Amino acid sequence: MNFFLALFLIIPAFAQSDFQFQQSLKRLIRNASMPDVSPGMVVASPSRTNPNYYYDWVRDTSLSMKALIDVWEISKNPAIEKMLYIWVDSETRRQNTYTLSGLGEPKYNIDGTGFEGPWGRPQNDGPALRAISMIKFGRLLIDSGKRDYVQRKLYGGMIPAMGPVKKDLEYTAHHWREPNFEPWEEEMGLHFYNMLVQYTALKVGSEFAFEMGDGGAAAFYKHEAYAIGEYIRKNFLSEQVGIKVSAVVTRGLGYKHSGIDVTPLLALNHTYPYQDLISLNDPYVKKYLEVLKSTFQNLYGINSTYRGMGVAIGRYPEDRYDGYTTGGKGNPWFLATLAVAEFQCLSGNKRSSRGQFDRVHFHSDKTGQLDEQFNDTTGFMQGAYELTWSHGAYITASLKCQK
Ligand code: NOJ
Ligand code: NOJ
Repeated sequence: MNFFLALFLIIPAFAQSDFQFQQSLKRLIRNASMPDVSPGMVVASPSRTNPNYYYDWVRDTSLSMKALIDVWEISKNPAIEKMLYIWVDSETRRQNTYTLSGLGEPKYNIDGTGFEGPWGRPQNDGPALRAISMIKFGRLLIDSGKRDYVQRKLYGGMIPAMGPVKKDLEYTAHHWREPNFEPWEEEMGLHFYNMLVQYTALKVGSEFAFEMGDGGAAAFYKHEAYAIGEYIRKNFLSEQVGIKVSAVVTRGLGYKHSGIDVTPLLALNHTYPYQDLISLNDPYVKKYLEVLKSTFQNLYGINSTYRGMGVAIGRYPEDRYDGYTTGGKGNPWFLATLAVAEFQCLSGNKRSSRGQFDRVHFHSDKTGQLDEQFNDTTGFMQGAYELTWSHGAYITASLKCQK
């Protein structure tokens, strides 16, 4: 695709020096434009067996598109803009497709139909993340004079002709109290990650609805956001671990006991700079980060075998998913290790982020490929190859750390 070349020219200031950034961008775009996949849908990985990730997850796609929106914000590359319109159309179609759990359906087949096998559903982080990404896109479009498109196609306040943003906000406002699966698709309950992204979607959604002339909805979203905020402040802060992964688990693995998980960190990154509930410098956040880092520092052999770099981080200490089966041992993940870098840059601690990037580069294969995990003792990559979310996480962390 020839528009990569254009990108090299448009954002040379930081990008030229950053091989992995360009590779991640190219590889993310590749996973977002597979020829046999319905246009606008993004495969989580090109891997079709062991594991089969050749599906579109709403969470992965919303986060990957957010990375592309961030790139578009600074490059204004027309080919990326076009991809984003195609994504909006595809999400609009998807929202009007029957699924087993409505908009909470986490995973779709590559022809756009809902996946109907057994799965952890619903996952209500998806609609909220999609709304956050689309609202950011919408605001940038308004700034470039495309308010009409935003009003008509993106927001679409007129019932029943609801646009994708309004649909996601309605869903979130009506379902946030219900137990649902966290991003690792393993435990049903009420989770910090899901609640903070739902809070944030409704908060920015309320402001956006107001600007779109939908005042009644704006007041409703604001009210619900406030209620989620109350719930979060009361139920997730902990003296032991800073921020707990879940407040309620209605159906769980049975071996996840520590309460320590990287998803609160992901939540803080994914809702920045919109959420105003918890400051990145809050003592509970500080405590949480210390516990998170020291837990994984001690858990993974590579953190002491290969020193002088940042800490390799996994999903949670009791993790048994090794990228192929759940009978194994959890490993560090690229997106989790990069999340520490991103957080450091957002919270004014940019200098320490260097070590996290070094860690990622060290365990990558140096060709630009990033898989899902890297082995906790050998350091070699494993799990779904070329995970779209790994590349998205690299792009987002780099952009936050360049500023
Ligand atoms: C795939 C899920 O996405 C992953 O998070 C989980 O650990 C495994 N299946 C096993 O349930
Ligand atoms: C497993 C991860 O646990 C989940 O968060 C993700 O959505 C899927 N893999 C697809 O990447």
